Amino acid sequence: MSQSAEVVKIVEVGARDGLQNEKQIVPTAVKVKLIESLAESGLRHVEATSFVSPKWIPQLADAAELMAQLSRLAHVNYPVLVPNMQGYQRAVAAGAKEVAIFTAASEAFNQRNINATIDQSLARFVPIMEAAAADGVHVRGYVSTVLGCPYQGEVPLADVVRVAEALNALGCYEISLGDTIGVGTPSKAKEMFQAVAAVVPAERLAVHFHDTRGQALANIYACLEVGARAVDSSVAGLGGCPYARGATGNVATEDVVYMLEGMGLHTGVDLDALAAVGRWISDQLGRANGSKVGVALGAQQS
Ligand code: HMG
Ligand code: MG
Repeated sequence: MSQSAEVVKIVEVGARDGLQNEKQIVPTAVKVKLIESLAESGLRHVEATSFVSPKWIPQLADAAELMAQLSRLAHVNYPVLVPNMQGYQRAVAAGAKEVAIFTAASEAFNQRNINATIDQSLARFVPIMEAAAADGVHVRGYVSTVLGCPYQGEVPLADVVRVAEALNALGCYEISLGDTIGVGTPSKAKEMFQAVAAVVPAERLAVHFHDTRGQALANIYACLEVGARAVDSSVAGLGGCPYARGATGNVATEDVVYMLEGMGLHTGVDLDALAAVGRWISDQLGRANGSKVGVALGAQQS
């Protein structure tokens, strides 16, 4: 691992990717407190919500209300997902300064997730990028199913590369590569990252692993070895996509921070404060804490 790159960017996705899969509607005030506490723990990129159809994701129907209630720190970004122009306009009206557009490397997944083909979704993004450039809004891009699809199975690497390249060409400042259903293993993750990094500079890539099969930290490590320096993760390992059968939580932010700091890679996060947030939100949701580090730190305190 190179000596020079000592900082790893963490994009906290718990309030969005984590909560979107929760069956019981979480009160807006709890979401607001979650996001504010995550920012206070030192995270600088805290995904807040999605401006998607409330019929598709009822849990995030309160997106505008949430943004109105949120106290934002000046040095923290609060990106929100937008699937189409309607979502973009709602997001900007609610005060979003950064949005994330999302598509997939698998046609079958994209149809179920956003009711569009890959090319239809890319075409929808063109006017969003134009509006965002005019509005001074930063745009991140997501590619889902980069290591496998719950409907299609294998996803050819060439498809991942094509979609990542297209998002880069559209002007996304960063492209997050999502193992939506957590099927990847380290060698495959590394191969995928390298294939994309051959066409999109590694500094513009992030990795987004779900931990469905317990491979996420190993996959992150493998990608760090080949130049990844941005990692998506979710406090307490909350997460899952409602349109990805069997996709359980994202890798836990506490576990990622512990690993990175242990490797001498700086995150800027106060791990004790973050772990306390993870235990609190797990209690609020009545869920077991999905972070091993969070559980271990809690046990030390009691
Ligand atoms: P559609 O049904 O094809 O949409 O859904 P439509 O354009 O035909 O519109 C139908 C209705 O939805 C209309 O309302 C629109 O106004 C409304 P009606 O006339 O019937 O009353 N509508 C909207 N309302 C609010 N906000 C909007 C919006 N757009 C349309 N933005 C659509 C297409 C994309 C809207 C839908 O499929 C959708 O919202 N999908 C979102 C699914 C989602 O959020 N999935 C999870 C996020 S992706 C993920 O988790 C993966 C990731 O974590 C990375 C990884 O792990 O791989 C990012
Ligand atoms: Mg995800």
